[in-house]
Amino acid sequence: MIDFHAHIIPNLDDGAKDAQQSVDMLRVLFLKGVKKVVATPHFYAGQQTVEEFCAQREEKLEILLSAIKNSGEELPKIAVGSEVLFFPTIYSFEKISSLCILGTQYLVLEMPQMKWSQSIFDSIHRLISNCGIIPIIAHADRFIPYGNGEKELEKLKELGAFIQINSDFFEGFFNRRKALAFAKKSLIDVLGSDCHNMTSRPPEIEKAFLALKEGGQRSTVRKIEETSEKILKNAIIF
Ligand SMILES: [Fe+2]
Repeated sequence: MIDFHAHIIPNLDDGAKDAQQSVDMLRVLFLKGVKKVVATPHFYAGQQTVEEFCAQREEKLEILLSAIKNSGEELPKIAVGSEVLFFPTIYSFEKISSLCILGTQYLVLEMPQMKWSQSIFDSIHRLISNCGIIPIIAHADRFIPYGNGEKELEKLKELGAFIQINSDFFEGFFNRRKALAFAKKSLIDVLGSDCHNMTSRPPEIEKAFLALKEGGQRSTVRKIEETSEKILKNAIIF
């Protein structure tokens, strides 16, 4: 299993508060069968420059890597990316490639919490066609309450985007039914725990895989695993 959404770099955003918590989260993921984790700290354009963000991310990553080493434990390998909040001119943002998962052209992108207008789809289209960046839509399930459902996700996929779903979408009867319907329509490319800590937003992802298997969608599980590996094929792994 690969976790495509995790706030595991310590003391950088609202995720892990220190390296010990990061290691605790990684341990839980590893014990549940996760072999690789994509670290996705929040990036908000306008709040900091890309240079500042990358420098801080590197510094905190070093702290995490030495904590992992000191733990002496076998833990998941880490790919480093970000979770970029969409902004309308994202396609003309000079440094956008630096925010992709390192070594790839895949960008974990958080969409705005509103009904997505045509101009938002146009920006995404430009991001893909002008910049050659492939957005991975972060926790796409979270935007259903804003009126963005299967149709909107299909539209994003037609443009070339990938869809990441949070594992907690599979919790509860009605949600799970919706999640399985998404999977049936190939609207789940990769999964993520979106873990921030050990309690309120814990490192759980295996439930989603289990729900898919129990829902008779083993082929979807295989496809998610293949897509996950493909995305990280050239990624720098720590
Ligand atoms: Fe997140």
